[in-house]
Amino acid sequence: MATIRVPAQDRVLSEQKAVTEFLAAVGIDHERWTPSRPLAATATADEVLAAYDPEISRLKARGGYVTADVIDVRPETPNLEPMLAKFRREHWHDEDEVRFILEGSGVFFIHPREGEVFAIEVGPGDLIRVPRGTWHWFDLCAERRIRAIRLFQDASGWTPRYTESGVDAGFEPVCLGPSHLAARA
Ligand SMILES: [Fe+2]
Repeated sequence: MATIRVPAQDRVLSEQKAVTEFLAAVGIDHERWTPSRPLAATATADEVLAAYDPEISRLKARGGYVTADVIDVRPETPNLEPMLAKFRREHWHDEDEVRFILEGSGVFFIHPREGEVFAIEVGPGDLIRVPRGTWHWFDLCAERRIRAIRLFQDASGWTPRYTESGVDAGFEPVCLGPSHLAARA
């Protein structure tokens, strides 16, 4: 379940309806998905895509997405740090960033053109669509694990374009979920 944090206002939203409404007000789609059939933790990428086919097809039709894949990131993933470093600097893309989280967790920071920076912590079952052009950055939570479905309009549009604003340097990638609390204990 996604959690919103607005550090400048010391505000946290964790109730599903409040989260979805907060995000809708700034043009970010948030949904909760459940698989159309039971899905084992060992499911292959093809099995995952088949289980979520109705939701993926609906989004494809709505957003013009042409491809979907499954990304799997673990602490032992080669070149994990350089990969994360690319995405934890404020950037935007020429296409939407659409992610459905299957396992693990991460945090998107969103920098609206007007208004305070806020963080969206996403976990299993969360679908998020960050529209093209949105200033944002991303980091993984402490367990360094995420498995997610990605949808693309045109994979070449997904290259990060950096704002070089330096705003990202003022925020810690703090996650509020159980894994974070466990990691701190
Ligand atoms: Fe991004």
